[in-house]
Amino acid sequence: MKSLIVYESRYGTVKKAVDHIAGKLTEKPDMMTAGKAAKACLDDYDKIMIGGPVMMGKMNKAVTAFIRTKMDVLMTKKIVLFIAGSETDKDGLAKEINDAFPKQLRDRAMYTTHIGYGFNLENMNFIVRMMIRKAANIESSVMNLNYDELDKIANMING
Ligand SMILES: Cc1cc2nc3c(=O)[nH]c(=O)nc-3n(C[C@H](O)[C@H](O)[C@H](O)COP(=O)(O)O)c2cc1C
Repeated sequence: MKSLIVYESRYGTVKKAVDHIAGKLTEKPDMMTAGKAAKACLDDYDKIMIGGPVMMGKMNKAVTAFIRTKMDVLMTKKIVLFIAGSETDKDGLAKEINDAFPKQLRDRAMYTTHIGYGFNLENMNFIVRMMIRKAANIESSVMNLNYDELDKIANMING
């Protein structure tokens, strides 16, 4: 059976992360945005990786909606969950992960993790770019993905 990666990426970092995971998998996975996956049949997949960026303290809405729509079928699959986020406080990060995914699904998951983050200033509109430059105190784009975690996800799926 095939594996599936369900993701959303507002500014491109999560897309880069899932492309890295896909490149490390021994069998090429299918990849869908959460919006598309919410309408897809998931019968062909036994392992499903699900993730997206946390913004303003909340998981991407389309990822949340996908999980809500497909909860029953997801509970029959092997699941890996991940968030991207720039939160550095350990407790803050744990809260973001807990808030991002229902407990039932986290309990079911083989692995739940934080994959790091990126700020792609060139993909942001003027207002968001100004806000992030100020809040994160950066002058240019930052890519801070945790490749050890991405490889761990791939190894788990390969395993
Ligand atoms: C407007 C905005 C708000 C954000 N809010 C949060 C947040 O509340 N918590 C967090 O951990 N990261 C936050 N981030 C960081 C994003 O999660 C991070 O940039 C992520 O890698 C974006 O993924 P993407 O490039 O795939 O959209 C925020 C980023 C932006 C641009």
